[in-house]
Amino acid sequence: MNRPLEFSLEYGGLRLSDIVADRRIGTPSYVYDVDAMANEARCLEASFGGAPHLVAYAVKANSAPPIVRALAAEGCGADVVSGGELALALRLGIAPSKIVYSGVAKQNDEIDRAIAAGPEGIGAIHVESVEEITRIGARAKEAGRVARISIRVNPAVHVEDIDTHAHIATGHDEAKFGVPLSRIANALDMIAQTPWMRLVGVSAHVGSQITSVDTYLLSARTLFQLAREIMPRFALSYVDTGGGFGIDYGDGCPPRPADFIRAALALEAKCGLRDLALYCEPGRSLVGAHGVLIARVTQRKIGDAGRRWIILDAGMNDLIRPALYQARHRIVPLRSVPGPVGMFRVVGPVCESSDDFGVHELPEGPLHEVAILDAGAYGFSMASQYNGRTLPAEVFVRGGRIEAISPRRTMDAWVDERLAMVST
Ligand code: LLP
Repeated sequence: MNRPLEFSLEYGGLRLSDIVADRRIGTPSYVYDVDAMANEARCLEASFGGAPHLVAYAVKANSAPPIVRALAAEGCGADVVSGGELALALRLGIAPSKIVYSGVAKQNDEIDRAIAAGPEGIGAIHVESVEEITRIGARAKEAGRVARISIRVNPAVHVEDIDTHAHIATGHDEAKFGVPLSRIANALDMIAQTPWMRLVGVSAHVGSQITSVDTYLLSARTLFQLAREIMPRFALSYVDTGGGFGIDYGDGCPPRPADFIRAALALEAKCGLRDLALYCEPGRSLVGAHGVLIARVTQRKIGDAGRRWIILDAGMNDLIRPALYQARHRIVPLRSVPGPVGMFRVVGPVCESSDDFGVHELPEGPLHEVAILDAGAYGFSMASQYNGRTLPAEVFVRGGRIEAISPRRTMDAWVDERLAMVST
């Protein structure tokens, strides 16, 4: 059951209704409370005590510069998954040594960028297959630089043991991610044979929206054991237990990110690995709860058999999580509407039946705008221009004021972009 809503119509000290009334903003628009995101990072950083560590923010969750910069100011590095994210993190001033790069098969030019960054390349390229090791070795040799790498292990955690949606479970034996346990020995031999690579860590990421500490520890245990086995041969400096800390979308998520970390640190110490740095790669847990998608009600619609829809100007192109993972995001009115409430199916304008945000309790009376909650992670970063729709605006609130706005692209800009092709 969903818990009762305790949503304040204020966001970062500003009224959402005032924000949306700003002529430059309108709807659909994402509004982010950047201070609250920075506070999440601060709490997570503090949970390490004095232990050596790196919180590598998973930029894919939300790559907006004001957010990445605010998290970096709290000490976070970056976990990137493409040359684009890598370039962005570097341009935003994140030290190359605080960047780790995962990705199931990186392009050669992406590998080159990672090797070429800064005086010594990035913190580590997380290799995901034996085959990729060969390619990274060749690129490093060509660049004349030693690439720091980590093996991203696929710990073969059973998919049913990862209490999350199958589409966001990544550490089971059928997943394409990571080096399978059966090939680790092979991978280590290859790394040992080339002078162009230095193994500095082992890592794993078994899934996202994990709501139990025990699930997180399943793969951490495998990683720590592996680290112990290979330490005599390789001078490891860290173990990276990945991201995946869940947030409360309304059904509860008892552990906080700090609880996952404290448990992982305890296990690390028990395995005698206290000297190794503990890395993690959180995305959602730092930003998810501190962003909303604001939408206007375009109209209502009454169908057969008492069906009632509320149709928004935001759709699956703006927030795809409900369509893709059957995710539920709570929806609340932006201003209080007196009078009775009823159940409505809330949908967007996109020509797909899956453009559907689910059934929600909303006012029977005049409703102009709503906020779709917990949309700070994997919202804008997965948005598209499907159906000839434009990307939503983004508003960054800091210190009780709007710090930055990324305006919505206009319809004409979309048309111009499509028309701007090169004739041959
Ligand atoms: N590290 C790696 C290697 C990852 O693949 C991911 C997420 C993360 C870290 C960050 O995971 P987080 O802490 O955010 O759970 N679009 C989906 C989530 C996909 C996650 C993909 N990988 C969603 O909207 O739920």
